[in-house]
Amino acid sequence: MRIRSWEEYLSAADRARRDPADFWGEMARGFQWMRPFETVCEADFAAPRIEWFQGGVLNITENCLDRHLAAGDGDRCALRWEPNAGEGPARSWSYRELSERVCALAAGLQRLGVAKGDRVILYLPMVPEAVVAMLACARLGAIHAVVFAGFSAQALADRIQDAGAKWVITADGLRRGDRRVGLKALVDEALAQVEGVERVVVLEVLGEEVAMRAGRDVTWASVVEGMPRFIPAAPMQSEDVLFILYTSGSTGKPKGVVHTTAGYMVYTAYSFCNVFQWEPGDVFWCTADVGWVTGHSYTTYGPLLMGATTLLFEGIPTYPHAGRCWEVIEKHGVTHFYTAPTAIRALMAHGDEPVAPFEMPTLRVLGSVGEPINEEAWHWYYERVGRGRCALVDTWWQTETGGIMISGLAGLSPEKPGHAGWPLPGIEPVIVDADGHPILTPEAQGHLCVAAPWPSMLRTTYGDHERCRTTYFASHPGMYFTGDGARRDAQGMYRIIGRVDDVINVSGHRLGTAEIESAINSAPDIVESAVVGFPHPIKGTAIYAFVVSATAPEDEIRARQAIQDEVVAGIGALARPEKIQFVPALPKTRSGKIMRRILRKIAAGETE
Ligand code: WT7
Repeated sequence: MRIRSWEEYLSAADRARRDPADFWGEMARGFQWMRPFETVCEADFAAPRIEWFQGGVLNITENCLDRHLAAGDGDRCALRWEPNAGEGPARSWSYRELSERVCALAAGLQRLGVAKGDRVILYLPMVPEAVVAMLACARLGAIHAVVFAGFSAQALADRIQDAGAKWVITADGLRRGDRRVGLKALVDEALAQVEGVERVVVLEVLGEEVAMRAGRDVTWASVVEGMPRFIPAAPMQSEDVLFILYTSGSTGKPKGVVHTTAGYMVYTAYSFCNVFQWEPGDVFWCTADVGWVTGHSYTTYGPLLMGATTLLFEGIPTYPHAGRCWEVIEKHGVTHFYTAPTAIRALMAHGDEPVAPFEMPTLRVLGSVGEPINEEAWHWYYERVGRGRCALVDTWWQTETGGIMISGLAGLSPEKPGHAGWPLPGIEPVIVDADGHPILTPEAQGHLCVAAPWPSMLRTTYGDHERCRTTYFASHPGMYFTGDGARRDAQGMYRIIGRVDDVINVSGHRLGTAEIESAINSAPDIVESAVVGFPHPIKGTAIYAFVVSATAPEDEIRARQAIQDEVVAGIGALARPEKIQFVPALPKTRSGKIMRRILRKIAAGETE
């Protein structure tokens, strides 16, 4: 599974191309199976029907936990946790301790009635119990659907409903910097709108009194009390669903991307150890919230599958000062720091002073993810944070791909600012021209597709397979369409340009124009709206809303506020438009389609 030189990269890529079944089959055999798989891959992109490692039976938590205990690594540190600044001591759990906590929660959830295949919503802060809750679900074969705790009650209700969840695991509240958010109150608000939730498990984080509804709400402490420290893992078929994660698309409401057990396991471990060139003893810090796929694959599953130490951080990079991240890196001896360009730009804006005093001698690898990294931020990250001695990997992937697809391998591959690099062995990207034809010359620019199946690709969108087909597999037959535009240079290096659909990437957070417009349109007097992205120095892209009101607003400031309130309530603060402009009408084509290209130019301040 390990690639340790550029020559090995080239030969692995070659081998994976010539005999993918042999390549992935060998990879998968390195894991613990209750019953070995019979076939490696069967895929039909037209349907789509994608199956990996069929016939196999396994549980991903045996591979994240039990396997390491059996190997005598029970005392190794699995998880470190750095709380929000000023909130008490850091925590550190060994693999044994993590395993015991996962089993106790799984046993408690089982006693409540949680069973294999049930959907469990996790709406939690960045505390170690979030990882415990994910793994406890997986232990039972229940399907976790983590909802980022920055989403509103309405957004939470939409996801509970779509998933048909009977269970919610949440906390009394969360703290970020000097802010406090009452999560349980938001859950109550959501549950006033949807039916079907039987139990809400509430973790005490803030220690604040919250309303508990008798018969429905139970504390986390009461669920785990007296529970055994070991329970056997549920046998899962390779293609049994591991989790659902909601993500935005160009149309309609967010869709539930479905990942299954074996393929996701194999690919997250493979990509984790090769991209980051992880070695035993390393401390891996991925700053992404567990509510995003990055937090699933590279805070939780990837590192734990490899027996690594993963660091979870509750705070924010600029609280109580702009040197907080560097302080945490030194405190925990972090070797790998994986974050988003928006965070780098925000820290860069504070100048070199906050980072200069921190030598960070343990740091070896820097990672970037979520949006294109501009050259200025790349150089600052490389020189000021990495002191010119760390490898820097720009990792391109998506919620749908499950794991990193195009990226350098830390320290092994040539680096070029703004370029994600080459595909991982086994990944076959294709650049397609405007007519839908693959461009075969080395240098190319167009839509980015993937021609061959890979183990951690999405299997469906929950409850709506047709939506999965039309979104990803219909526009370029025989290929998976990413929604991104990309360029390939003469050396075969990929540069991701950005979305070519109506998805906006704000601070690395993915939002659909349609969902924002639908929230805006529910504000008083609003007839219609159109939302586009425009360049922003920190966020990368910010939201610009063109709004048509039935009557010209008397007080524009108040009308703008009403729109923002509507968006914050409908989706969350992350979707709040930066600019709102009232217009008499929207530019449309003859067939009534909004001409977003023109709006994008106006929003960017182009006068042409
Ligand atoms: C979209 C996926 C899984 C990563 C977290 C975001 C953009 C992601 C890069 C990168 C340029 C990137 C793409 C992609 N993106 N990584 N290294 N360089 N763009 O996951 O929320 O599913 O968003 O993020 O546009 O399609 P996501």
